Amino acid sequence: MARAGWDSLFGCFGSSSSSHGGRKKKTKTKKKGKPKVAAAAGGSGKPARSLQSRLSFTDLSLSGMVSPEDLSLSLVGSNLHVFSIAELRAVTRDFSMTNFIGEGGFGPVYKGYVDDKAKPGLRAQPVAVKLLDLEGGQGHTEWLTEVIFLGQLRHPHLVKLIGYCYEDEHRLLVYEFMTRGSLEKHLFKKYAASLPWSTRLKIAIGAAKGLAFLHEAEKPVIYRDFKTSNILLDSDFKAKLSDFGLAKDGPEDDETHVSTRVMGTQGYAAPEYIMTGTSPDGEERRVRLRRGATGAAVGAAVGG
Ligand SMILES: Nc1ncnc2c1ncn2[C@@H]1O[C@H](COP(=O)(O)OP(=O)(O)OP(=O)(O)O)[C@@H](O)[C@H]1O
Ligand SMILES: [Mg+2]
Repeated sequence: MARAGWDSLFGCFGSSSSSHGGRKKKTKTKKKGKPKVAAAAGGSGKPARSLQSRLSFTDLSLSGMVSPEDLSLSLVGSNLHVFSIAELRAVTRDFSMTNFIGEGGFGPVYKGYVDDKAKPGLRAQPVAVKLLDLEGGQGHTEWLTEVIFLGQLRHPHLVKLIGYCYEDEHRLLVYEFMTRGSLEKHLFKKYAASLPWSTRLKIAIGAAKGLAFLHEAEKPVIYRDFKTSNILLDSDFKAKLSDFGLAKDGPEDDETHVSTRVMGTQGYAAPEYIMTGTSPDGEERRVRLRRGATGAAVGAAVGG
């Protein structure tokens, strides 16, 4: 699938294979019972962190439940808006099917509109509202990972997280709306073969800049879900990376790699990573760009 994705982006490296429709299988295991959750720093009198020292996921303890209050306190300074479920119902016309955009492993996504009547200080704009499917394979941990990472990372080639909802069992994410949808749609669905070379290159360079930003940050981030459905396009075909639910803090200082459980989407993860379970610095970008440039075979599929 990864080969098909990048081959199609560059237009001349062999045939596309199938399996772009429907839900993609992530390699993470389905959560049973109460998901393990992380306790955020902050709250209980602890000072909120500034964005200069990004709250990293490994700063969080896995031993307790983070409360909605602690989470919003920990993310003070990130300009995230905290929505109630009632507000997001209003924004999406009660999650109406006419607002339905699509569905991935996390759950359904709906288009909506916000303005400063929805939240004071909010610019009038269309948004994409992603709703956790409580019966699905992802859960609170992926939602929290997305909020922690994307809530603090800001870059022209990362999709902007505008806010979230954390109320009772509800877990939602509110993003800037990306008018032209995913790169996957342009490559494999109704707009297939319509992208000119210059646009393909612009998208590849934009996505690479997004990855470079993550890898070269003071606290590096390993994205772990780099694929065409997660590269979203604005009205001007500017590429932005989305979906940080599988992201992980990268190696820091003189560490050469981090050891992780093998995660990603079936067919997209790097073979070296699958074999060794380690992610050397720069691995993600190198493997993907090599594939894009040469059409080199993926050679391995991710085990479940
Ligand atoms: N910010 C956004 N703006 C516009 N459309 C979006 C936005 N975020 C997601 N979508 C669309 O919503 C649908 C579901 O996206 P989602 O990211 O949940 O799943 P996916 O990337 O297709 O699959 P996976 O779960 O494997 O990542 C897709 O059609 C995607 O293009
Ligand atoms: Mg996605």
